[in-house]
Amino acid sequence: MSTPTRTRRTTVIDITARKGGEPVVCLTAYTALTAVLLDDHVDLLLVGDSLGMVLYGLDDTLAVTLDMMVAHGCAVMRGSEKACVILDMPFGSYQESREQAFRNCARVMKEVGCAGVKLEGGAEMAETIRFLTERGIPVLGHVGLKPQSVNITGGFRSRGKSDREATAILADAVAVADAGAFAMVVEGTVEPLSREITETVAVPTIGIGASPACDGQILVTEDLVGLFGQFKPKFVKRYAEMGGMISKAAATYARDVKARRFPGLEHCFGVPAKAKPKPKPKTKPTANPGRPDKG
Ligand code: KIV
Repeated sequence: MSTPTRTRRTTVIDITARKGGEPVVCLTAYTALTAVLLDDHVDLLLVGDSLGMVLYGLDDTLAVTLDMMVAHGCAVMRGSEKACVILDMPFGSYQESREQAFRNCARVMKEVGCAGVKLEGGAEMAETIRFLTERGIPVLGHVGLKPQSVNITGGFRSRGKSDREATAILADAVAVADAGAFAMVVEGTVEPLSREITETVAVPTIGIGASPACDGQILVTEDLVGLFGQFKPKFVKRYAEMGGMISKAAATYARDVKARRFPGLEHCFGVPAKAKPKPKPKTKPTANPGRPDKG
């Protein structure tokens, strides 16, 4: 009897080994459906706490809870089989102490089964990152613009324009790498600083609004496909305009329902076959498991 072959997931060790090599492709995913669609195309899926803004309509990420992250993390694991899945620790779940961080990260590793966690913070989080990595929890760092700290650092502006700020962010990146992070997100930093960080640290830098100098790139998937927000930040490239497509489809559906054009007889149960319109020759039947599709 042959053993069924299982797809091997990309590991954090594979990601670290990409330093200076082929760029690491990363996107966010919050749901099983998105994970299914992205899994073949990315090295890493981040279950980002940006889901608070993108899915839940919050103004920032601060109100996101660990329970929300665990639920979405489990969905992304169910929808993917190849990507390295990393879960963002939400505000308040790791900053208090290294013990609190370990307890909550261990819960995530057990309940979600992901490859590791992401923490925001620089030098001030280095001790916690060391504590976690020495105890078996892989950590993706996050330096530069830190959305969980916007209330004290002054909004979503780019970082590293002044020499003083650039020096502090570089020191953060070095501290995070030295503490054992397997890679780090570098967010919203000016190009010369992103380049310097990437040239200085021994682990991959994953940029978002941090220039092509980084070892990899990440975007929020809903930004990439035009599903989130009227405003497009400078660092986002829209590869599709799905927001407009969904809105157009909903408007057409509404018109059809009001005009009684939908549903047609072909969408009805219990209608004799001869009363149904003949199927169009080239249309393939779609499998729709779990839903009654026989009349
Ligand atoms: O929460 C998130 O989605 C993130 C990425 C944008 C890096 O932190």
